[in-house]
Amino acid sequence: MIADRNRSLQLHTVVLSCKGGVGKTTTAVGLGSALALLRGERVVAVDANHFGTLAGRVHDASGASLSELAADADAGRIPDFSSLRGYLGHNGGGLHTVGHGRSPSTGASEYEAVAGLIEHHADAVLTDCGTDLDRDPVIAAAVARAGRAVVVADPTEDALSAAEKTLAWLGEAHAALARTALIALCQRASRTQRTRAAAQRLGAHGGTVVIVPFDRHLQKNGVVDQRRLRRATRSAYTRLAELISPGTAAS
Ligand SMILES: Nc1ncnc2c1ncn2[C@@H]1O[C@H](COP(=O)(O)OP(=O)(O)OP(=O)(O)O)[C@@H](O)[C@H]1O
Ligand SMILES: [Mg+2]
Repeated sequence: MIADRNRSLQLHTVVLSCKGGVGKTTTAVGLGSALALLRGERVVAVDANHFGTLAGRVHDASGASLSELAADADAGRIPDFSSLRGYLGHNGGGLHTVGHGRSPSTGASEYEAVAGLIEHHADAVLTDCGTDLDRDPVIAAAVARAGRAVVVADPTEDALSAAEKTLAWLGEAHAALARTALIALCQRASRTQRTRAAAQRLGAHGGTVVIVPFDRHLQKNGVVDQRRLRRATRSAYTRLAELISPGTAAS
């Protein structure tokens, strides 16, 4: 049991920023897809954001909502990954998703039931969080379960400052996550921004910074088709995945 718990802590990653619209969901999808290539088929991203858009970023978004999945998990109806698969959206490339569903009653207990179930059956879990770090109980639950954090920013002043606040918040309550945090710096605009200076600024806080280049396919904000990403974009997500799951190759 202890070994199982340690395993889930290692494999659960939270994707965070206290600012909206910086690239969290895009990072969760890109990183999750890269992890699926590295680790095999069972990678699940969970939308913990009440207004989240994760389900719309994969080809098949027909899965159950967080609260529907929680109800069946609590009722013991999901004994293995093949049963779980029927509740999940997927991108056809090994990344599975749980959409939030926007039910006002969905809270930390539903999230806990779903996260526990997925940690048990899947190879890796990513939680795409909302922005209200201090008050959202689902973020508190996700961060408490996670073994790694990816803080997301773009190179604008507001997003950089939000990433610094997010790293400071992590450092106060979750020092181990802050020490090993990865930073995804997403170039969301095509014009040249001071990305290198931004990377240096965030890197000074101790985490490893991975720059995700501007990609027209991602800018469309729809379904992400891995085959349509630039090679440099795929490499950036692969680098993030390798940092999270070093030395692992799909069997
Ligand atoms: N590397 C990139 N190149 C081009 N566009 C990008 C890139 N990364 C993210 N984007 C775009 O930036 C926008 C915001 O991304 P995303 O939805 O992932 O942000 P978010 O932080 O999850 O937002 P929210 O806080 O609303 O959940 C989207 O239109 C997305 O497609
Ligand atoms: Mg989002």
